[in-house]
Amino acid sequence: MNSSPHAAPVARPMRRRKSRWPARLDALQSLSGLVLGLFMWGHMLFVSSILLGKDAMWTVTKFFEGYFVFGRSLPALVSVVVASIFAIVVLHALLAMRKFPINHHQLHNIREHINQFRHGDTTLWWWQAVTGFALFFLASVHLYVMMTRPETIGPYGSADRIWTDRFWPLYLVLLFAVELHGGIGLYRLAVKWGWFAGADPNAARRRLKTLKWALTAFFLALGLATLAAYVKIGIAHAPRAGEVYTPVWAQPEVPAQTPAQAPAQAPAQSPIQK
Ligand code: HEM
Repeated sequence: MNSSPHAAPVARPMRRRKSRWPARLDALQSLSGLVLGLFMWGHMLFVSSILLGKDAMWTVTKFFEGYFVFGRSLPALVSVVVASIFAIVVLHALLAMRKFPINHHQLHNIREHINQFRHGDTTLWWWQAVTGFALFFLASVHLYVMMTRPETIGPYGSADRIWTDRFWPLYLVLLFAVELHGGIGLYRLAVKWGWFAGADPNAARRRLKTLKWALTAFFLALGLATLAAYVKIGIAHAPRAGEVYTPVWAQPEVPAQTPAQAPAQAPAQSPIQK
C-alpha cells in the first residue's frame, strides 16, 4: 500500500450519479399519453351520441354543464375541463419534442434507418411523430373554441359549427390524425411497459397489433359516421344557424291564451305587399 505523503495521488475514476430525470420524463410522457388516449375514447363515445338523436346529444351536453345537479346550465364547467385537457396536451407535446429529429441530418438518418430496416414498429413510431406534429396545430384550434365557446356545444350549435362555420375539413383531418396517433401510442405503451405480455412476447405483440388496428378502425368508422350526422343536421339547419336546440319536453310551458288575451291578428298581406 502506498502511504507515503510524497507519493503521486492515485487517479480515481470520476463517479457521476446517473440522472433519473430522463426516466421520470419518460414515465410522465407515458402517463399523459395514457390519460389523453383514454380521454379520446370517452370523447368519441360522448360526441357520437348524436347518432342516437338530437335529444341524446343534448342530454350529454347538459350533463357536462351540470344541469342535472345544479338545475341550470353552467358552461364554465366545460371550460375548466377543456383547460385541463389543453394543459395535458401541452405537457405531452413538450415531452414528445425531446424525441423529434431537430435538424436535416437527424431527419435524413431516421428516414434512412426506417427504409433500411423495414421494421413495422419503427415505421409506426415515424407515423406517430408525423401525426403528433400535425396535432400541435389541429387540436389547438378545436380546444380553443371548446374552451372559449362552451355554450355553443349542442345538437344545433355543433352542427352549425361543422357545416355553416366550415369546421368539417379540420375535423376530418383531426379525426384521422388523432385516431392514428392515439392507437399507435397506446399500442407502444403496452409494448414498452410489458402490459398483457404473456409467456410468448412475439405472440403477445401480434395480438396487441391486431387489437390496435381493430380499435383504430372502429373509432374511425364511428367518427366518420358522427361527422356525417352533424353535417346532415348542419345542412338542414343552415337557414336558421345560431338557433339553440331544446327538446320539446324541456321547453318552458306557454300558458294557453284566452281569445281576449291573444294579440290582435295582423291583417293578411296581399301578395304584392310581401
Ligand atoms: C375537453 C376537451 C374537449 C371537448 C369538450 C370536446 C368537444 C367536442 C365536441 C362538442 C365536438 C362536436 C363538434 C363541435 O361541437 O365542434 C367535438 C368533435 C371532435 N373532437 Fe373534440 N373535444 C375535446 C377535446 C378534443 C381533443 C383533445 C381532440 C383531439 C386531439 C378532439 C378531437 C375531436 C374530433 C376529431 C372531433 C370530430 C368528431 C368526428 O369527426 O366525429 N377533441 N369535440
